[in-house]
Amino acid sequence: MTSLVRYNQLKQEINAHNHRYHVLDNPIISDVEYDRLLVELRQIESEHPDWVTPDSPTQRAGAVVSDKFEKVKHPRPILSLANAFGAADARAWYERIRKLDDRVERAKFTVEPKIDGLSVVLHYRDGVFVQGATRGDGEIGEDITANLRTVRAIPLKIPVEQTKDESRETHSNEPAQLSIFEQPSSFSSRPPSYLVVRGEVFLNNKDFERLNTRLAENGEKTYMNPRNAAAGSLRQLSPAITATRPLTMLVYQVVYWENEAQKNPDVLYPPGSQWELLQWLKDLGFPVTDVARRFDALDEAISYTETWDEGRDNLGYEADGMVIKLDDLGMALELGFVGKDPRGAIAFKFPAREVTTTLLNIEVEVGRTGVLTPKAVLEAVEIGGVIVRNATLHNFDYIAEKDIRIGDRVLVKRAGEVIPYIIGPVTDARSGAETTYIPPQTCPACGQAVEHFEGEVAWYCVNAACPAQLVRNLEHFVSRGAMDISGLGIKIVEQLIAIGLVRDVADLYTVTREQLLALEGFADKKADNLLVAIAESKAQPLNRLIIALGIHGVGEVAAGDLARHFGSLDALMETSAADLESIEGFGPNTAAAIVDWFARPANQNLLAKLKSVGLWPVETQRAQTSMQNAPLSGLTFVVTGTLPTLSREGVKEFIEAQGGKVTDSVSKKTSYLVLGENPGSKHNKALALGVPILDEDGLRKLAG
Ligand code: IVH
Repeated sequence: MTSLVRYNQLKQEINAHNHRYHVLDNPIISDVEYDRLLVELRQIESEHPDWVTPDSPTQRAGAVVSDKFEKVKHPRPILSLANAFGAADARAWYERIRKLDDRVERAKFTVEPKIDGLSVVLHYRDGVFVQGATRGDGEIGEDITANLRTVRAIPLKIPVEQTKDESRETHSNEPAQLSIFEQPSSFSSRPPSYLVVRGEVFLNNKDFERLNTRLAENGEKTYMNPRNAAAGSLRQLSPAITATRPLTMLVYQVVYWENEAQKNPDVLYPPGSQWELLQWLKDLGFPVTDVARRFDALDEAISYTETWDEGRDNLGYEADGMVIKLDDLGMALELGFVGKDPRGAIAFKFPAREVTTTLLNIEVEVGRTGVLTPKAVLEAVEIGGVIVRNATLHNFDYIAEKDIRIGDRVLVKRAGEVIPYIIGPVTDARSGAETTYIPPQTCPACGQAVEHFEGEVAWYCVNAACPAQLVRNLEHFVSRGAMDISGLGIKIVEQLIAIGLVRDVADLYTVTREQLLALEGFADKKADNLLVAIAESKAQPLNRLIIALGIHGVGEVAAGDLARHFGSLDALMETSAADLESIEGFGPNTAAAIVDWFARPANQNLLAKLKSVGLWPVETQRAQTSMQNAPLSGLTFVVTGTLPTLSREGVKEFIEAQGGKVTDSVSKKTSYLVLGENPGSKHNKALALGVPILDEDGLRKLAG
């Protein structure tokens, strides 16, 4: 049962958030949370239409106009978009409009990124930029002309004198009839004498990072994300400040036009197709997106959208979704709108990546190398389908620089494979009860004083016998990509260390059945299985052991190179930095780290122990094959779906053994996509980019 109390409370809350977002440029909740409130409000309103009042946030487009700037009445309402949270929503939208107009069945769709920036309305008279405004409440915006003039992507002049072909003039008087049909692909590009277009001003991610670095260096307040930075930069009172901000823009709509012959047109200006409109705008000198595509069917548009969901980081700027638009603008116009949302387009939202939650505590972890890393303990929150309880805070300097306090409301980002991290505190949401965090002066695991090295941000526990470091070391040593000893989970590792049975990784190989049986939770079978797994790991190839040693900067690829180059640990131990640097891909830092690792007495001891327990693999046939002549040498592969015989690890090893490389995401540089059953969206991406596709059989043939 929904109560009127909840309804009123929601309205009030949403209106307050609107004000913070649009007027103050200082939101305290993320877009997802805002959307959730709005969905709830809409739900209540659909159940109780009689409750809806004119002050409901659903009854107007977004913002209240601030009094900082002069007001501008838009020549036509600046509309918003309805959201689709997934393919089912998009199909439901299609069904709704198909019922209203059966031409939709034959319609094309143009798909564009939904840029997460600030919507602007630009006015051109006789080809000259005369006024620019924010969207405001959709009816009235703020005059930010002077600020917009500083944005280089905005043309100050567009060509008007150019064509002798006046035939388009006739089109413009009868666009409604033309709109159902394909427009000719070339238009005479002379624009009308008064043209109003709409675009999105934003910052590229790299520029955003640079701007924040600069602001921080000058001791100024940094921005939480590129959208806030764009909004804050545009709504400066001094255009001189805006001019120092690396803003850019993409244009996607004609809002209004007028010609001598047509003073108050309620009709489209050709082209009447969104796809061709983008080209037309581009021809006039406006920046338009280069990732828009036009499709003959909704399903294709949806799969293209999903491709970008996965590849959104390749856009170079923040997009919170893709907009699927009926390509026929005449048809779209005729379909009209619901509230502030035109029926002819839908925003297909990507799962959110930024959410706010409460920072409950900061814990400190001790890494394999003794580095102390602060870890945020969060009030559980869902981000993109995953419940997040922890996030990284990078290092202690970061906490201090961002002034992150325990108890703060914080903005958390979780993107792709990256570990969730805290962007910063929402300082406006502070109650005063938050406490400043003081980094520990002793190691939380062994209690010894921590140390700090000149020129490094990290703090270290330098106690070589610190149990926390040993746990991390062992965890890494037995992990799948290293020695792959299954059945040796963290709990067992901790027990083995706690009772002093294991003081380094080599001790694993001398643990006996009796010792295991004495541990908590061990019975015969479990002990035997573990002993077999430990014994079998001795057969792991040299590259796996090199990974397992955990030398700074030596991951999978470098370990493979070292194994091939040296063939044995005996040879690797004797090497010099100069020799290492002669190997392709090895720089001075990695070379120094390797030499340093082998020079340490503790590590030399460890190596001697490993040799004595019989863990001393030597590269045999692999050492002899020159990888340059290997059949897959120089080729990069991406694998998606389940292959008939090879596992994920198996296919990777197979490709690498033949000299090929395996990467995670499809790009133009990918040589082949290896396709199995139930592939993910990498398949669509490969299709979109024209990357050749192989099945397992094809891969084997290619490898000879
Ligand atoms: S079309 C009638 N296209 O998204 C036209 N909007 O929630 C409606 N946006 O405020 C807008 N990129 O500022 C459209 N390629 C794009 C867009 C886009 C970003 C913004 C726009 C609007 C919001 C809608």
